[in-house]
Amino acid sequence: MAAMSPISRNLLPNPARIKSKRLTMRPIAMKDASRIAKLVNDREIAEKVSHIPYPYDVEDARRWIRGLGDERVFVIIRRFRLIGCVGLNPKSQTSCELGYWIGRKWWGRGYATEAAAAVLPIAFTNPAVVLVTSAHFKDNPESGNVLYKLGFSPAGEGLRWCEARGQKIESVEFRLTRMVFEANRKARASR
Ligand SMILES: CC(C)(COP(=O)(O)OP(=O)(O)OC[C@H]1O[C@@H](n2cnc3c(N)ncnc32)[C@H](O)[C@@H]1OP(=O)(O)O)[C@@H](O)C(=O)NCCC(=O)NCCS
Repeated sequence: MAAMSPISRNLLPNPARIKSKRLTMRPIAMKDASRIAKLVNDREIAEKVSHIPYPYDVEDARRWIRGLGDERVFVIIRRFRLIGCVGLNPKSQTSCELGYWIGRKWWGRGYATEAAAAVLPIAFTNPAVVLVTSAHFKDNPESGNVLYKLGFSPAGEGLRWCEARGQKIESVEFRLTRMVFEANRKARASR
């Protein structure tokens, strides 16, 4: 979750609630810090994302929430329990980056895909936004599967910093253009 650029202020709306079939997403709040710290203090999560240190405590979570700026992060609620986060981070006036994690206990039930699919349309609410990017470390193909299911395509390889591992890690870059997003939406609607 990178530092905000001043040109991207207010790029994205911040709806109070987003519902999907099994999940509810709402904007992250300071009250979520202890629950988030509990779930994220897990090497299997920290080592798969860029900016989560390991170990991770409630102060780390508070600092992260305080510093979010215009990044739109939603907590993912399943049966009244916070199980993960999904966010859109403005990168420029025309693009933002998608990120997510799910607590380990809830992996493999389609929740990351469902939550991200529900939040993605927010990115394209602003007509200026033409591109959503994302990436996963090469040793985390599970996240690549989420991105494929969301309609993203691979767009090259690179190195991204991993705070928990303290080094740059080989990664696969992904992108979803507005054109592809809208074509997929139309195809789903006509099924
Ligand atoms: C990657 C991650 C978000 C996937 O969450 P999820 O809710 O399990 O995702 P989904 O159920 O939608 O499925 C995605 C893929 O996870 C994998 N998966 C399925 N069951 C799994 C299990 N029990 N354990 C681990 N991975 C599993 C599969 O590859 C699946 O793809 P498929 O359905 O096409 O086979 C989750 O593992 C996670 O939070 N990992 C750590 C943080 C992270 O990687 N964030 C993304 C950084 S780019």
